[in-house]
Amino acid sequence: MLSGKNILIGICGGIAAYKICELIRMFKRKGANVRVVCTPNALNFVTKLTLRNLSQNEVGVEEFDIPDFKPEHISYADETDIMIIAPATANTISKIASGICDNLLTSIVCAFKKPVIIAPAMNCNMWENPAIQENLKKLSSRGYKILAPESGYLACGYEGKGRLCSLEKIYDEAAAILTSKNRGKKYVITAGGTIEDIDPVRYISNYSSGKMGIALADEAYRCGNNVTLITTVDVARPYKIIKVKSAIEMQQTVNSEFEAADFIIMAAAVADYRVKNKSGQKIKKTNDDTLTLELVKNPDILKGLCERKREELLSPEAILPENKFSAKEGKQVQNDKIIVGFCAESENLLANAKEKFQKKGCDYLIANDISRKDIGFSSDYNEVTIIKKNGEMTKLERASKTEIAREILKVINE
Ligand code: CTP
Repeated sequence: MLSGKNILIGICGGIAAYKICELIRMFKRKGANVRVVCTPNALNFVTKLTLRNLSQNEVGVEEFDIPDFKPEHISYADETDIMIIAPATANTISKIASGICDNLLTSIVCAFKKPVIIAPAMNCNMWENPAIQENLKKLSSRGYKILAPESGYLACGYEGKGRLCSLEKIYDEAAAILTSKNRGKKYVITAGGTIEDIDPVRYISNYSSGKMGIALADEAYRCGNNVTLITTVDVARPYKIIKVKSAIEMQQTVNSEFEAADFIIMAAAVADYRVKNKSGQKIKKTNDDTLTLELVKNPDILKGLCERKREELLSPEAILPENKFSAKEGKQVQNDKIIVGFCAESENLLANAKEKFQKKGCDYLIANDISRKDIGFSSDYNEVTIIKKNGEMTKLERASKTEIAREILKVINE
């Protein structure tokens, strides 16, 4: 089931290190190629010989162990599909969160651009330390998958949270990522509200926080996809980020990414209008009581993308040589992209959403109610209805934006 998959297991210096011997066997039994790297402290708990025999590969510990034309941490990163750090100690978690590369394991993580699962294990007081919790939050927000420890009797004699989660949980999480259909695709996702300048100090925008688009990009990345996030908000992630400001800039950027994309998700709140004559200088107050700004319509990016997809599907060049086609309805077509729109409504959610779906011509429309304070704009939660081309609707009840993103990706990959 996992043959051809390359798994890198990073072991840190904690007593749970001995359990990882069994984890290696679980992956090996399913045909995966497993490589192991250890922090020097991990070898106080397990031996290099045990790990080498179980993985049937050399075990990496020191960064400059094997002379190679490629630095070792880079070749490990390049040759691996997924990295699992278990047990992850408080020390290594904090180093990864700060980008410190003082051993082979931390250097590999720093250079690693594919999914990483972190399974912490430590004393319960260390687990509760706010510095450790903050670092875990940082890592989670950067797309690392954290498998929280379980509560119970700890090796140090304490009772509490800190025990490594079950090996089955680590195995299942990794296997789900490695075998998912939603893998190796190219996602282009937009996020945030566009900013339309009035003059050098003022602008028109909206309350979009960008959280839903970022959650979608994080989830797509975590599943092993190539992700480009086009965003108006500042965000640091291990995948490609393109910062834009206005609707026009967003349109140009999305258009230039269109060709390579398998999925385009327009989660951004694009301003429908921009100022017709943007002033180069700060607009001065006058004696008049009113000021009129003339606005012009912005292009509808989503609609334009859907039209482009349709045109390309109908063009004679859509019939391609055999090595370049993707089969759809029995035809050889060039363009099999899935285009997803969002629909922000403050009233008559479903009626307006259905109408918008027709107008835009996208493959899926995700409708959300922005009048509610407990979901939507700025909130960490959302509740949406996914409208599909066949008219079918799927409601996703209120959940964190991460969970909603996971479900949306599942539906659009069906
Ligand atoms: N959208 C877009 N370009 C625009 C406006 C919206 O690409 N100029 C996209 C959004 O990213 C979203 C979808 O269209 O995916 C719907 O956006 P929404 O603001 O709900 O609808 P509008 O088309 O702007 O219509 P209205 O404001 O009248 O509801």
